[in-house]
Amino acid sequence: MQKIVVSRKIPQKFIKQLEDIGEVEVWDASLTPMPREKFLTALKDATACFVTLSETMDEEVIEAAPNLKVIANMAVGYDNIDVDLMQSKGIVVTNTPSVLTETTAELGFTLMLAVARRVVEAETYVQNGEWQSWGPYLFAGKDLYHANVGIYGMGDIGKAFARRLKGFNTNIMYHNRTRHKDDEEALGALYVSFETLLKESDFVICTVPLTAETRDKFDDKAFKMMKNDAIFINIGRGAVVDEEALVKALQNGEIKACGLDVLREEPIDMKHPLLSRDNATILPHIGSASVITRDRMIQLCIDNIKLVLSEKEPKTPVV
Ligand code: NAP
Ligand code: GLV
Repeated sequence: MQKIVVSRKIPQKFIKQLEDIGEVEVWDASLTPMPREKFLTALKDATACFVTLSETMDEEVIEAAPNLKVIANMAVGYDNIDVDLMQSKGIVVTNTPSVLTETTAELGFTLMLAVARRVVEAETYVQNGEWQSWGPYLFAGKDLYHANVGIYGMGDIGKAFARRLKGFNTNIMYHNRTRHKDDEEALGALYVSFETLLKESDFVICTVPLTAETRDKFDDKAFKMMKNDAIFINIGRGAVVDEEALVKALQNGEIKACGLDVLREEPIDMKHPLLSRDNATILPHIGSASVITRDRMIQLCIDNIKLVLSEKEPKTPVV
């Protein structure tokens, strides 16, 4: 008998598919994840679990779930999972690449334009009844047209972002550990060092996964290297950024503004200094949040669970 634990409320049409293969325990509060204790208890006799980036999958999970065969993560990023540990115990880990690429790039692009043209500030100004008249520099922002845009982590999402940039006549730079000459040609992108990317970019876009190498990559030194009127956008992971250094950089005019879809602590503490800054736009980690993409991500997780439980190769294993 299979038992599948689903840590978040998902539509019944998906639960039904899992019920066809076993017993399903679902957390049914829509805005919060399953509490840790309940999750660990539910895992006791589970063979599969459907999780999101809210669940930390570590040694405690191994101890709680002796029969676990597969962890299906409803995200492409898997920094919430100790993959080596899981694999050493024979547990398959899967994620959701590709299906969310375009949607996430679109959100990143939206955020970049919103920050550049001060859309959130301007809308708040109207809502607050402060709009008196047209003004020569009222909410004057920054053009994307002809700007230098640097993408840090040009993988699937970074490339989808670059494709959108082509339509804005921008100069695209990127930095990865490895150089991709085919993409350079197709996208008209220039491979540069991380330092050059910071120094030369008018917009710095972070789409990198969180790893030991990328953690705290955007620190004091990095922000000081950036142009004083640069805009920093992060759609990768919060912990790639030293947020204290970012607040200082915004305060001291080392950079102009930022847009963040991801934070070190999610949800953000309402006392966080970033929240009181007009030049910081914060979103609640909604990169892949279109209905169709979320449906596709869930379906992919279910397909992966079904395949592993029937002793077949999953579609998208983390390797
Ligand atoms: P991907 O295709 O694997 O791309 C990741 C890119 O990062 C690769 O090109 C990789 O190139 C580069 N990279 C990895 N480590 C690096 C390092 N130390 N220095 C420089 N570059 C490095 O993944 P993806 O689908 O584009 O997703 C990327 C990340 O976006 C995810 O891991 C996740 O954290 C985040 N994400 C966020 C949202 C959201 O809602 N905001 C949604 C989806 C994804 P090399 O290996 O050549 O270095
Ligand atoms: C979301 O952040 C993801 O990694 O899919």
